[in-house]
Amino acid sequence: MRGGGGGGGGIPIFISRRSIPLKFRQLSGGPSLKLKFLLSWSAVSFVLFLLLLPVLFIGAGRWRRPSHLTASPPPPGKGYTILINTWKRNDLLKQSVTHYASCVGVESIRVVWSEHDRPSDSLQDALWQSVQKSSKRCDDIELKFDLHEENSLNNRFKQVEGLKTDAVFSVDDDVLFPCASMELAFSAWQSAPTAMVGFVPRMHWMDKMAGTNKEYYKYGGWWSVWWKGTYSMVLSKATFFHKKYLYMYTNHMPASIRNYVTKYRNCEDIAMSFLVANTTRAPPIWVKGKIFEIGSSGISSLGDHSEKRSHCLNLFANIYGHMPLVATSMKVIDSRHSWLW
Ligand SMILES: *[C@@H]1O[C@H](CO)[C@@H](O)[C@H](O)[C@H]1NC(C)=O
Repeated sequence: MRGGGGGGGGIPIFISRRSIPLKFRQLSGGPSLKLKFLLSWSAVSFVLFLLLLPVLFIGAGRWRRPSHLTASPPPPGKGYTILINTWKRNDLLKQSVTHYASCVGVESIRVVWSEHDRPSDSLQDALWQSVQKSSKRCDDIELKFDLHEENSLNNRFKQVEGLKTDAVFSVDDDVLFPCASMELAFSAWQSAPTAMVGFVPRMHWMDKMAGTNKEYYKYGGWWSVWWKGTYSMVLSKATFFHKKYLYMYTNHMPASIRNYVTKYRNCEDIAMSFLVANTTRAPPIWVKGKIFEIGSSGISSLGDHSEKRSHCLNLFANIYGHMPLVATSMKVIDSRHSWLW
């Protein structure tokens, strides 16, 4: 069955789609293997579920493991800063700020503000009040707006004056991550402070132009990452990284990349992934986390317009003179929540 293109009719995703490049199929190490695995895994879990049902009913409360890694906030400077990228959606901004202020490790919230008009006093007051209400720290969480004159996607990676922490969590205003997921990702970052640590993985696949031998990089969205379990980027709309990369993005990264990002309003996250990978020569880290999309833009907001994204991969690799991205299959999970193995 190995490599049999249209194999295993059980799962309709992917296998029979003509858009999948040949190489992708050949590389996949037997989709049927994964299918078998999925099926047997489902069967096993179903049986286990039946067996465990009584236990779940009786002992649910007592069996639950503690839900927080750290009970008390980290010392000053050792937590992280939320860097929220927002654009004309004050209601979403308010939801985000209110939520993140309730997470234990958050020391500071910086809003990347690229609108022409300054944030209104009433917005600032409202945000202030919700921060103070939801904060669980004794000392206050800092909340600051960083105003930008030019409306460029590069703004999200501009250096921020007076950052209180080394760790920055870069996030958009239309997605929320629960505090438990944030804590897990932050502790992964603490173990690897030079890496990008995030929740939304993406991949650069090698592919061949139709009818030629010319190889190029093809942007792999969520489904290809899910299928193959391999990734080389984590999207910066939900990523921890060290603040030094903000400085490097503006001052060390080739200006042609920043100009491209401004002009085409895309690929700033791919640019950051290249920058970090070229610095560390190591892959990013994917952390399992729950994602709540609160905006209306849906899944597309996670940046999958794959032709344009593929173009960026090839263009940026050209500018660098090589492909800095490194692929991996490692994923961080909270071991308290993985019962089966
Ligand atoms: C990539 O990293 C190398 C080695 O550290 C460095 O010399 C080079 O300037 C970097 N490339 C870019 C485009 O930043």
